[in-house]
Amino acid sequence: MIGFDPALFSGKTVVVTGAGRGIGAAVARGFLRTGARVIAHAGRTLDHAEDGVLSGLSDDERGRLDLLIADLGTRDGGEKLAGSILAKLDGRLDGLVNNAGTMIGRIPAAEVDAEAFDAVVDLNVRSVVALTTALLPALKEGGKAEGGAAIVNTSSISAIVGGSPGSSLYSSSKAFISTWTRALARELAPDHIRVNAVSPGTIMTDFHRRYSSPEKLEATAAAIPMKRLGTAEDCAPAYLFLSSARLSGYMTGQVIEVNGGQFMG
Ligand SMILES: NC(=O)c1ccc[n+]([C@@H]2O[C@H](COP(=O)([O-])OP(=O)(O)OC[C@H]3O[C@@H](n4cnc5c(N)ncnc54)[C@H](OP(=O)(O)O)[C@@H]3O)[C@@H](O)[C@H]2O)c1
Repeated sequence: MIGFDPALFSGKTVVVTGAGRGIGAAVARGFLRTGARVIAHAGRTLDHAEDGVLSGLSDDERGRLDLLIADLGTRDGGEKLAGSILAKLDGRLDGLVNNAGTMIGRIPAAEVDAEAFDAVVDLNVRSVVALTTALLPALKEGGKAEGGAAIVNTSSISAIVGGSPGSSLYSSSKAFISTWTRALARELAPDHIRVNAVSPGTIMTDFHRRYSSPEKLEATAAAIPMKRLGTAEDCAPAYLFLSSARLSGYMTGQVIEVNGGQFMG
């Protein structure tokens, strides 16, 4: 990845969820470019992997990549994925990027019901907490190595500004992620595990192809100080930065906004 030492993560093993396409694919590819062994959760299927995370990888990079699939929108999705990941580890994990997630749909406030609540919370909250909890013993082992271990969560600009109509559950689920990031950072610091989050603005991935009209996106871009929407590649360096003790070893509990100036805290 441009600007990063190609050996930055050599000897390190990292997990990235939601890595088949979009932001997660760019993050997984960034780790591969910088020497890591990557266990990538591609999503519910491998359908997007060929054009996403796998696209243009060298043989060496492909050799350091394990691809897994799991539905994280189920009650025990996080635990099941953790079982598959732990089977691939020797007991030690250096980095975890909790990135899988989505809005599920635009749900007007008056139509929010128990089913919608469970769907959004199971995916964006329950599975993230369950996966992380199950991987903590391996991360604590990673914490004993030089530089310690790192968790980077994916929050959202909507966690602070509330999102747009129909996103109340989603935005609030991401607010949970931001606060949980700070709480874990405090609790896990003695284990040498740093915990931070990246909060993307409006990033042009399949996420917005599904949930936002071209007109809405054009208006959003016009209102952003940098006058454009973000890309997955705009976001990936922040995840690598926060995962590297060499680059961010004194940072924990931070939520980094990557949004072209769309929101300034
Ligand atoms: N794009 C934005 O503007 C934006 C802004 C703020 C935050 N975010 C957050 O950034 C993260 C990545 O989003 P993206 O923009 O890269 O969207 P994306 O291209 O739609 O990718 C989402 C990833 O999450 C996975 N995922 C979704 N539902 C899942 C489920 N039930 N089980 C397992 N995996 C599932 C997807 O797998 P499948 O291929 O199976 O769907 C995919 O790998 C998400 O947490 C999102 O909320 C995005």
